[in-house]
Amino acid sequence: MRRVRVRLGKKSYNILIGSGLLAQTGQLLKETGFSDKLVVITDPTVNGLHGNALKQSLTGGGFKVTILEVPEGEEQKSLEAAGRLYGELTAVYAERMTPILALGGGVIGDLAGFVAATYMRGVPLIQLPTTLLAQVDSSIGGKVAVDHGSLKNKIGAFYQPRLAISDTATLKTLAPREISDGLAEAIKHGVIRNKEYFDYIETNLSEIRALGDRGLERVVFGSARIKAAVVAEDELDFGLRNILNFGHTVGHAIESVSDFRVDHGQAVAVGMLAAARISNKLGIFNSDELIRLKGIIEKAGLPIEMPGLDIEKIIQSMEHDKKIVQGKIKFILPRSIGEVFVTDSVSLSLVRQVLAE
Ligand SMILES: NC(=O)c1ccc[n+]([C@@H]2O[C@H](COP(=O)([O-])OP(=O)(O)OC[C@H]3O[C@@H](n4cnc5c(N)ncnc54)[C@H](O)[C@@H]3O)[C@@H](O)[C@H]2O)c1
Repeated sequence: MRRVRVRLGKKSYNILIGSGLLAQTGQLLKETGFSDKLVVITDPTVNGLHGNALKQSLTGGGFKVTILEVPEGEEQKSLEAAGRLYGELTAVYAERMTPILALGGGVIGDLAGFVAATYMRGVPLIQLPTTLLAQVDSSIGGKVAVDHGSLKNKIGAFYQPRLAISDTATLKTLAPREISDGLAEAIKHGVIRNKEYFDYIETNLSEIRALGDRGLERVVFGSARIKAAVVAEDELDFGLRNILNFGHTVGHAIESVSDFRVDHGQAVAVGMLAAARISNKLGIFNSDELIRLKGIIEKAGLPIEMPGLDIEKIIQSMEHDKKIVQGKIKFILPRSIGEVFVTDSVSLSLVRQVLAE
């Protein structure tokens, strides 16, 4: 088992990473000193695949367990779904000290996290992420939210979990496309902060995509360490946390222009390449590294281009996303693999040129 500490003063917590950890969760929570009643929030697919292992481990640890299921899908990140969960929590007499365990992907993590942040003004939250995206990204850093109509993550909070447990064996039941989506964020972490981690992913992509234990554990650990360090420096997203948006300026616009038919990971992949090309044309990011980035994205099963999208609509969408300041779009650009910088001095004509390419 590997451990990453998220250093946030009194709100510090551990992320535990390893294969088979769900079966040890009861013991791990007992050691952390939680009360004897727990509520697990999950979805039917994850519950069917991994709920039993967790339940057995929790009851084996002497906990009384209630499992609440939420249907799958982004639509569940809503105030209505949160409202239903508040009712169900009340019905099972959940109290201030009753922990909520979020077992699932980013949707469950964000929704259950939002409910934990607000039910009785906050109850302990434990993240048990089961997608690669959730293990490398969404379960770390305390952003919890629901959507408001079509506005993503509009209602939310910064609410840190007490503990996150990433059982990398759960990733073996994911579809390859979901692994690729998570890899987009892992590659992003390498580019923004750590060349060695990028090198590791590049060299071991086949093993990671074949879901080997060592590769999965190492990739989740590497990303968790990078994200934890960024969050520790800027918990509330006033500065450094911005760099986590590398690839997201164009990425979000692609998602929105495609009416969310393009997955987040795929959109971020193309967005990272767009940012890298801009930096290359500005004479900053060198061509060899651009070729490496393109290569790793392709080998991760992600797209390197997205023909057919309307460039002007993408630019308009970036305007709506408030990423344009006085005619300039705010970009996170790579200086080299392992280092990025934030700039708003990229001209719209250069953005248009790169998008057209
Ligand atoms: N809070 C943050 O910092 C943050 C960061 C990035 C993304 N997000 C959010 O994360 C969400 C996307 O999360 P996601 O990509 O994990 O998608 P998801 O939560 O919708 O899960 C995708 C699908 O995978 C299934 N699934 C989950 N674990 C599985 C497993 N082990 N085996 C088989 N199937 C499994 C789920 O049932 C679901 O149908 C978005 O709502 C996004 O806004 C949040």
